[in-house]
Amino acid sequence: MDLFIPSSKKLTAIFSPESDLNIPGDKSLSHRTALFSALASGESRITNFLDSGVTQVMLNSLSSLGVQWKFVDNILTVRGKGLYGFQTPVNSLYCGHSATTIRLMAGALAASGIAVTLDGSEGLRKRPMDRIVEPLRQLGVKISTAEQGTAPLVIQVRPAGQKLKGGLIELKQASAQVKTCILLAGLAAEETITIHEPGPSRDHTERLLKAMGADLQAEGLQVRLNPLEKDLLPLKMRLPGDISSAAFLIVAALITPNSEIIIEEVGLNPRRTGLLDVLQTMGADMQVTVTGENGGEPVGSVKVCSSELQGCMVEGDLVVRMIDEFPVFAVAAAFAKGETVVRDAQELRYKESDRIQVLCSELQKIGVDITEMEDGFVIQGSEYISGGTAESKGDHRLAMSLAVAGLASQNGVNIRGADMVSQSFPAFFEMLNRMGVEI
Ligand code: S3P
Repeated sequence: MDLFIPSSKKLTAIFSPESDLNIPGDKSLSHRTALFSALASGESRITNFLDSGVTQVMLNSLSSLGVQWKFVDNILTVRGKGLYGFQTPVNSLYCGHSATTIRLMAGALAASGIAVTLDGSEGLRKRPMDRIVEPLRQLGVKISTAEQGTAPLVIQVRPAGQKLKGGLIELKQASAQVKTCILLAGLAAEETITIHEPGPSRDHTERLLKAMGADLQAEGLQVRLNPLEKDLLPLKMRLPGDISSAAFLIVAALITPNSEIIIEEVGLNPRRTGLLDVLQTMGADMQVTVTGENGGEPVGSVKVCSSELQGCMVEGDLVVRMIDEFPVFAVAAAFAKGETVVRDAQELRYKESDRIQVLCSELQKIGVDITEMEDGFVIQGSEYISGGTAESKGDHRLAMSLAVAGLASQNGVNIRGADMVSQSFPAFFEMLNRMGVEI
């Protein structure tokens, strides 16, 4: 689907769970709460669960494993099966475009001990799975991949009564998907498992598993988990709005003149708020207020007004704390004064697309001065970005970032493959419309 986003003069809106203008529930927490609830005993109830392409494949996979769930009015209820209660599915589990589904599922299935094949879309089959396969093998899981270390993943049945091994796992990447996969497998280990990661990846799993009664300690870059002795407790939780979805609207308001938006009840977990920190150092007129906690997750509001931004440098741990936000951050940098440099961001090459390469190719098409580096990119900001036609390249976050760029461009942006937004934020264009964009 092609969609044209015109240049806009003003955006205003208040996003709040009390109105019908609400930021959809957090994607990472939606995946985790659905899967962890299935592994618990008793009935869980998750409010503001994200209704999108990637969460639907997680729910479909749970159905194939014999899990009963209901999803009505954004409330998900799940009847837990316990750690060892999954049924062996008839066919392979189809994980669509969702790396979170395949990687988290692999950990849960390794714990459960059943035989299963995990597969996905052509795009998902290109994403690296060796990062979960190596540590899972270290724990004693019998798992194989396609030749390139990619999906399909085939997990063999574990003999009844046999546990997985524990020990120290050193992760090569700061990846919450990998960390979560190993922690889920570790629930069925015979001894303590300790994970050390090279950077501060998101810690939703640690917070949730603790809240569900797991014996887990997290300190700095290390997590220790003892084998599960009693079933995980069910969850009753309202999910915060997804800060990674809100990020598009925040940057839209910053770079479109005369704009002001308020976003309430959005997730403000410090391991997810790198973009907000960077935008503030760039001069963004933005107030971020933590108002409370839900299910162990900090929640609050963000108020943003149009601002003149200055270029900056992003590197090190900050990259990990804003790993999903680089496409829209690049758009903010494109409209900032001066140079912006992103380094240490090699991981971007392994996302829904090679995000360094496609960001450069597609932003150049609409007039952005961006140069590719091996581990990042350099942008020379400008007030005048012409606009034009560019492609989403099958990447939901690139589609939304191009739309945001269109708002502050001279002639608007025509997005090829705009329908990809349905993967994580189906109502995105409708929300822009409600903020005053004439789509
Ligand atoms: C996610 C972790 C991140 C992120 C993805 C969701 C998660 O991936 O990019 O959108 O829910 O754990 P990595 O952990 O591989 O960096």
